[in-house]
Amino acid sequence: MKNRLVIIKLGGSVITFKNKPLTANYKVIKNISKILSKQEIPIIIVHGGGSYGHYWSVKWDMHTKPQKYHPRGISIVHSSMSILNNIIIDALFNQGLNPYGISPFSFFINGKLNSNKILELKKMTEHNIIPVTYGDAVYRKNNNYSILSGDVLMTILSKALNPSKIIFALNVDGLYNNMNEKKIIKEIKFEKNNTYNNKSTKINLTNNLNVHDVTGGIKRKVEEATKIAGTGKDVIFINGLDSTQIQKALQDEGFKGTIFKGKKYR
Ligand code: IPE
Repeated sequence: MKNRLVIIKLGGSVITFKNKPLTANYKVIKNISKILSKQEIPIIIVHGGGSYGHYWSVKWDMHTKPQKYHPRGISIVHSSMSILNNIIIDALFNQGLNPYGISPFSFFINGKLNSNKILELKKMTEHNIIPVTYGDAVYRKNNNYSILSGDVLMTILSKALNPSKIIFALNVDGLYNNMNEKKIIKEIKFEKNNTYNNKSTKINLTNNLNVHDVTGGIKRKVEEATKIAGTGKDVIFINGLDSTQIQKALQDEGFKGTIFKGKKYR
């Protein structure tokens, strides 16, 4: 059977108002849920933290490095993420979909990623369930926790599940060549020496960095997209605030955005 699995990351700045603490963008979440309800394809959703998880991670000085963070911080980051997860679950459910929220905590056993657990996500999609996982404060080992970004989860899931399509829905139209011109780079290709063909179109990432972001903002997204493309898969960046772009990307209808072309091994 042809593999049709799609993994889509809903960025925190799409589903929340990043500068308004603990505020979800219900309208956008509803629009995206409506678009997803029209697709007849297996889907796994990953979402970010936006003004929920990032807000509390900054307050409690928690980062991606595994450490013994304050238990109040661990608890509030996780609980705010599960609240945001529930908002998304509700919206998807109300559109007739069958979402199933999963903390990435359940992917780790003895501090290591458990590939069998991850493979089960794909199994779940075969029975019309949409697993919805998210960036979170995750137990690693010896009482160390870390903030696991949804972008890193995208790489983990993409490597393990061999999806047919990998989409990052951002709050921008794609990667710009520079912030003054705001011209979208349509395609980024691997060169032989493992670099991208972006020397002439220098990607300006600094303008996109956000103070309320403990996991590295757009820079992290580009790094993860690069890793995924390095395994041979194309990665699509589109603007999730315009849900029709998600529809177009899912249906191969000529969306506006950036494709990181998967490295082809020969
Ligand atoms: C962050 O996940 C999760 C927490 C801060 C707990 P992401 O790093 O994927 O979030 P966004 O998409 O950048 O907001």
